[in-house]
Amino acid sequence: MANHDPEPFRIKMVEPIRLIDRSEREIAIQRAGYNIFGLLAKDVFIDLLTDSGTGSMSQEQWAAIMRGDESYAGARSFERLSEAMYEIFGFQYFVPTHQGRAAENILSALYVKPGQYVPSNMHFDTTEANIRARGGRPTNLVIDAASEPTNRHPFKGNLDIDKLCAFIEQVGAENVPLGMITITNNAGGGQPVSLENLRAVAATYRRYGIPFFIDACRFAENAYFIKLRETGYSDKSTLEIAREIFALADGATMSAKKDAIVNIGGFLAMNDQSLYQRACNELILREGFPTYGGLAGRDLEAMAVGLYEGLDESYLAYRLGQTAYLAERLLEENIPIIEPPGGHAVYLDAGQLFAHIPQSEFPGQALSIELYLEGGIRACEIGSVMFATPDPQTGKIVHPKLELVRLAIPRRVYTQSHLDYVVKTVCKIANRRESVRGYQFTYAPELLRHFTARFAPLEERLPVP
Ligand code: F0G
Repeated sequence: MANHDPEPFRIKMVEPIRLIDRSEREIAIQRAGYNIFGLLAKDVFIDLLTDSGTGSMSQEQWAAIMRGDESYAGARSFERLSEAMYEIFGFQYFVPTHQGRAAENILSALYVKPGQYVPSNMHFDTTEANIRARGGRPTNLVIDAASEPTNRHPFKGNLDIDKLCAFIEQVGAENVPLGMITITNNAGGGQPVSLENLRAVAATYRRYGIPFFIDACRFAENAYFIKLRETGYSDKSTLEIAREIFALADGATMSAKKDAIVNIGGFLAMNDQSLYQRACNELILREGFPTYGGLAGRDLEAMAVGLYEGLDESYLAYRLGQTAYLAERLLEENIPIIEPPGGHAVYLDAGQLFAHIPQSEFPGQALSIELYLEGGIRACEIGSVMFATPDPQTGKIVHPKLELVRLAIPRRVYTQSHLDYVVKTVCKIANRRESVRGYQFTYAPELLRHFTARFAPLEERLPVP
């Protein structure tokens, strides 16, 4: 049986969690409009909704928080963060933001005009929505292997260079104000991108004169995958690999709530001075003065420490080992997942598990509701609820290739026995899969609808014993 190495930390503070009764869970999910985003956290037992902002900070981070300098301008905390930023990412300039989407908002405001295209391997939902909100057209050009759930390609997050060249030729480089790549590729299963691919992407964007920005949310996990899987990198440190990655780009956005293991924070970094000046103007309008952005001084401190802890290799070995453990245990039970597992999450293949539910009836949504009803587990649909959009020309709904449910693993929070409980719960659902029905919308906003949409079950299901 699979196993993972002991956690490289011990637990000094605990937060009680409680599994409420099945009848209470039924009432809770109904009240939430059958949307797990509408649940109260106190009604959730194991919360795998996201790995974002949900990690446990270390004693060093909490100690750093006590040193927060809350000066409005020029705080020491900003200097400390600047040093870490420069050593790890090497960009000339950055502005702190309250989280990743604020950085994306500013980046889109600076670059994107209506009708323009922004290619990437795959944009995450907030990036996509920020580009659309400016009238732009986010375009996903990940390699085909990404949509083959059992294809164990080591770098399934890679951007397809042939597709990228053809795309730029087709729409014209003048209509591509910037190009991006997401590491790791969250929307495609948390899959890494190789340095070889990053070099080719950077060269392609450069050849067409297109600025290249990296969505760096999970850069440390991506760096560790490169160390483990890419020829020539086993002797390099994750810090060296990170520096090599970012030397290829003109800038980056990051939600520090992921690999910097903080509860809030992010940044937009770049090399171009005039872009930085314009970013500062946007920042002052929306977030705050450039030396604190959307954050308190103490948040900058926690981020400066967390950026290094996120790169620590004993932590990363445990982190990726824990995710691989959950994936292997599920595979042992013949549960379909995206293989190989990514860094921060295991993605259940709801489309395959619930093959009897058509995409228009949201198999992923159905699975996320069953996880809650069966075991008090909260996990997020990444499928048609999140990504199905009408084709701008025909108005016909285009469904994503995969209907997934993401079991995102908060950093340094859950133990192996919590994960064993998750496996047991999934197995119980799989054993009675035929009894599960699809859902329909009763309310859906236009942008980022998964957060606030409400649903109704399509048919009355038989009560489950
Ligand atoms: N880019 C990626 C790849 C992300 O995964 C996220 C957030 C963001 C940008 C936006 O960052 O939340 O700080 O504004 N992903 C979270 C998740 C919400 O659950 O995957 P944010």
